[in-house]
Amino acid sequence: VTRVLTGITTSGTPHLGNYAGAIRPAVAASRQPGAESFFFLADYHALIKVQDPARVQRSTLEIAASWLACGLDPDQVWFYRQSDIPEIPELTWLLTCVAGKGILNRAHAYKAAVDKNNEAGEDPDAGISAGLFMYPVLMAADILMFKAHSVPVGRDQVQHIEMARDFGARFNHLYGEHFVLPEAAIEENVATLPGLDGRKMSKSYDNTIPLFAPREMLRKLVFSIVTDSRAPGEPKDTEGSALFQLHQAFATPAQSEQFARDFAEGIAWGEAKQALFERLDQELSPLREKYEALMARPDHIEDVLRAGAAKARAIAGPLMTDLRRAVGLRDLR
Ligand code: TYM
Repeated sequence: VTRVLTGITTSGTPHLGNYAGAIRPAVAASRQPGAESFFFLADYHALIKVQDPARVQRSTLEIAASWLACGLDPDQVWFYRQSDIPEIPELTWLLTCVAGKGILNRAHAYKAAVDKNNEAGEDPDAGISAGLFMYPVLMAADILMFKAHSVPVGRDQVQHIEMARDFGARFNHLYGEHFVLPEAAIEENVATLPGLDGRKMSKSYDNTIPLFAPREMLRKLVFSIVTDSRAPGEPKDTEGSALFQLHQAFATPAQSEQFARDFAEGIAWGEAKQALFERLDQELSPLREKYEALMARPDHIEDVLRAGAAKARAIAGPLMTDLRRAVGLRDLR
């Protein structure tokens, strides 16, 4: 059995990067024979960035509906909300006590915040919460709790998974072999999907294409992708083209080769954008219909998540009993 696990932070509306980098490969992996899959909504992680309760709730509903619309079958997988599993913060503390502070100092997100403060001539830790610093430990608890082998993610999460291995290995060394050490599973041509401005598509850059944007909005957004100023008839570079990379993430290799030839032959940017829009819409519109139907049934989604939490706790509870015993704490159960 291979255990596959991945989560999405409930800090905003899911976008094409989340879909191509995590949802689509994860749902495909969950259908492989012998796979056991754990997919969850990282709402504790959301609190690190978002202090707006309505936004966290809205995002939780949107991301849950997105997973379901993309074909996740809640009877075949473990599908739950992180904050429904109290064992996760409990394990976070046990891991906190073995995690090297020096390793956390090197986490990209924390370091970027410190660098920004330094550049602005401020105190290095100004405005940085302990939650941001501890982010990788909470994420390690998510992964180690369910003994995941494989974690499908975009490239930006690789360092976090390496840290989870490090903390898990350290715990195993001290207390016996309790944890499986996870590996990141990255799809090369979608590892970092670009956004409208060519930088990594990210909620924090405000450059996203929402996964289930209505068709007209999808068209508008695709037409706003930045391109260079080459005229129709002039050959275009595929290298470094956000338009080309987005197309590649949604096309077969043959379609992609044809698109590269169109670029070389000087396709007009307008035409290339229309082609990308049609590719996206073709893949997404059947899913969009399911998404809209699910968003109209929040009570149903809530039921699915609660059932998923019970199923996940049936694994997390016994593991915590073992771990409490292993480190010398009293048996609670
Ligand atoms: P989050 O919510 O930022 O992103 C969710 C998933 O989407 C991927 N992703 C991308 N992939 C390709 N191109 C992009 N432009 C792009 N933007 C986002 C991310 O790599 C991720 O796979 N810390 C995680 C959530 C998390 C988690 C976990 C993931 C919490 N616990 C345990 C795996 C295992 C995060 O904030 O992802």
